[in-house]
Amino acid sequence: MKDAAPQTIYLKDYTPFGYVIEKVDLTFRLAPNATRVLSRIRFAPNPDAPDRRFFLHGEDLRPISTKIDGADITPRPVPGGIECDAPDTPFTFEAEVEIDPAANTALEGLYMSNGMYCTQCEAEGFRKITWYPDRPDVMAPFTVRIEGDEPVMLSNGNPGARDAGFAEWHDPWPKPAYLFALVAGDLVNHPDSFTTASGKEVELNIWVRPGDEDKCAFGMQALKDSMKWDEETYGREYDLDVFNIVAVDDFNMGAMENKGLNIFNSSCVLASPETSTDANFERIEAIIAHEYFHNWTGNRITCRDWFQLCLKEGLTVFRDAQFTSDLRSAPVKRIEDVIMLRGRQFREDNGPLAHPVRPDSFVEINNFYTATVYEKGAELIGMLKTLVGEADYYKALDLYFQRHDGDAATIEDWLKVFEDATGRDLAQFKRWYDEAGTPRLTVSDSFNDGTYTLHFKQETPPTPGQPTKDPRVIPIAVGLLNPNGDEVQPTTILEMTDAEQSFSFEGLASKPVPSILRDFSAPVILERESDNAERAFLLAHDTDPFNRWQAGRDLALDCLIRMIRDGATPDSAYLDALHTLIRDDAQDPAFRALALGLPSQDELAQTLHDQGTTPDPQAIWDALETLKQARAEAYQDTATRLHAQYQVTEAYAASAEQTGARALANAAMSMLNRLDGGALAQKQFDSADNMTQQLAALSALISAGKGDAAVTRFYDQWQHDRLVIDKWFSAQIVNARPEDVAQVAKTLTEHPDFTMKNPNRFRATLGALAMSGAGFHHASGAGYALLADWLIRLDPLNPQTTARMCTAFETWRRYDDARQALIRAQLERILSTPGLSRDTTEMVTRILG
Ligand code: TRP
Ligand code: ZN
Repeated sequence: MKDAAPQTIYLKDYTPFGYVIEKVDLTFRLAPNATRVLSRIRFAPNPDAPDRRFFLHGEDLRPISTKIDGADITPRPVPGGIECDAPDTPFTFEAEVEIDPAANTALEGLYMSNGMYCTQCEAEGFRKITWYPDRPDVMAPFTVRIEGDEPVMLSNGNPGARDAGFAEWHDPWPKPAYLFALVAGDLVNHPDSFTTASGKEVELNIWVRPGDEDKCAFGMQALKDSMKWDEETYGREYDLDVFNIVAVDDFNMGAMENKGLNIFNSSCVLASPETSTDANFERIEAIIAHEYFHNWTGNRITCRDWFQLCLKEGLTVFRDAQFTSDLRSAPVKRIEDVIMLRGRQFREDNGPLAHPVRPDSFVEINNFYTATVYEKGAELIGMLKTLVGEADYYKALDLYFQRHDGDAATIEDWLKVFEDATGRDLAQFKRWYDEAGTPRLTVSDSFNDGTYTLHFKQETPPTPGQPTKDPRVIPIAVGLLNPNGDEVQPTTILEMTDAEQSFSFEGLASKPVPSILRDFSAPVILERESDNAERAFLLAHDTDPFNRWQAGRDLALDCLIRMIRDGATPDSAYLDALHTLIRDDAQDPAFRALALGLPSQDELAQTLHDQGTTPDPQAIWDALETLKQARAEAYQDTATRLHAQYQVTEAYAASAEQTGARALANAAMSMLNRLDGGALAQKQFDSADNMTQQLAALSALISAGKGDAAVTRFYDQWQHDRLVIDKWFSAQIVNARPEDVAQVAKTLTEHPDFTMKNPNRFRATLGALAMSGAGFHHASGAGYALLADWLIRLDPLNPQTTARMCTAFETWRRYDDARQALIRAQLERILSTPGLSRDTTEMVTRILG
């Protein structure tokens, strides 16, 4: 059976399936090239369904036999699956099919990774395993029997009988097929246990390849912390006897929340100080939490259809961010998330791939696992919480779990719960789900007779298919400071609902300095004429840590834009204000390290474009270099002191405290690196005993043009560790000079350790190329051509990863005619490739617009 011809699916066309499933029994007879899947599915007519067409999805299945109530039948092949004549009464459907996991390079369905069997079924991979109504609103309890001689054979739910040659599993919780999972292979476990609030003992395991056992302890602690946090914060307990996590090397994304059997990209679970950076540790902790939290937000309550994806993803991202904020530093987490949101989601929302948080059509659902659905989806939950307040938020969530447990729900259900729990009308709020685009919020102010007035104007630019936008409800968190730095108005939430709206504060002795959009209370672009003196004042005095950071960021952005656009020299207001902050040891080191960060090349390009200037990637790179050099020279003594003072002397821990200290020390090192020709970096490289310091030193040496020896030594030291070698590939590309980036990347694709079958390695190389700003956008077009060459090669093997990486080109219309022509030519070359996947066809078509 071949793929269905590409067609657009619409939200408005939703109809329930004609049948419900009472139970599913599956038997797998494992063999690398010829696995047999035997299914026995008990169907009954669905009284709520308008029609009784008995259609089952199926792709790349070799049929062996098909029966209804024990009698052989001959199903009719139809696009994307089969159709059969079925009775009007409950019946049993049985099938045997053969599949070829060893030939499955798409990493969707049942496939093999390093000799191990594993599955990935979200969103629509189960149809590559057997005939089934592969849609999230069809839920059923599964019993699974795995036959084979693999030492470890796992599936969802609780373990049943097992002996030489087989293992059985039963999952009592009805679930959609996308949450099915099976793993079998030579695995070792890191065991532990957790006692739930109601006293039930749960067995926990992290399963890894032999040799990786010593990299599981951190992930296990993160899992236990997550279980406890969800009990304490949301009152949610775990609901099976066992919770298994498996690490897999070949994986398209980060991790997957399969019921009771989470499967992780090994890069998102394996951790050790020697091989993982502080950023890796933080990400691993967050992803473990994310997948665990899906047990309630995603699994117990799932999505009616894939248009509702943000129902589980936005909420679960929001929950994992709360978890990280509670365990680590809330301001640091918020600043990091906003940097990510602006870098990925604003970019998406302001280009040809812009779509609503809840899209209303798609061709390939895999193309909608986006920053908009995930990260903007999480921002919408945050805004809801701000609008209704903490107590009502948890009241609404309690009602959500009570009302919808066991359901496949919608965004309408979700909002109704909030309306019922709080009495609030959320009709206007719903626009955030239905309309794409990032609102621009313009602010002006005035002061008269002790009354201070803020005047706001909102406008959302058109996005594909949505030419006009209505005003949204925007929670604007505002505080006011008086000129000596005291807060005269603590944070208050202004609820903007109109296109233009004013808010006044009375009884003020003098004109205050406003701190607007505190904690980034809404995902909007704030536009306000403000001078550098005011920004420096806020950087020094604001009580809201996010807005303190934002003030510093605004200073840097303004300084860089004037350097790029007007040829200005680095601004002393910025240099002085930042210096005051970073040398103040009373300030959190992590915060100071964040303040030393600079806007990315991509953010600068977008800002210039928004202001009507065509961005020149090389000029952006040059300005960043000039500014970094100026900072290094101005801060040399401070940097020398900070580097020495913030060396961690205790045993390594991935704690917020140590992470902050290392971040500040490494920021200092990279400044000094510009002055000492790499001497300090070499010293750090030679003595580093953890990856955070070793990789920072390696990167600094490469940037200084002094990396050759370190690059060789790093490889020799780590060639046995694939996750560290991924870093080795990336570091050489992202730290190369723009004119060298494409050649460095090309040479690395010829390295014996490069393989396009492993998505991590592919991303470490070609993804690093795409992320290297002026290198990728070099006027020669070599970067564009190299990426397109490899996307064309990867597409037949792995359409999902290919399509995702096409987003490197989504910003093409920002650039000059010459670059636009070069990119267009590459996009058209990709699109004209014979047999191009549905995934990549959809993405390239949308990007071309
Ligand atoms: N649901 C997963 C998560 O957010 C992500 C996911 C969706 C995924 N599709 C996938 C992971 C395909 C791997 C492969 O947690
Ligand atoms: Zn998720």
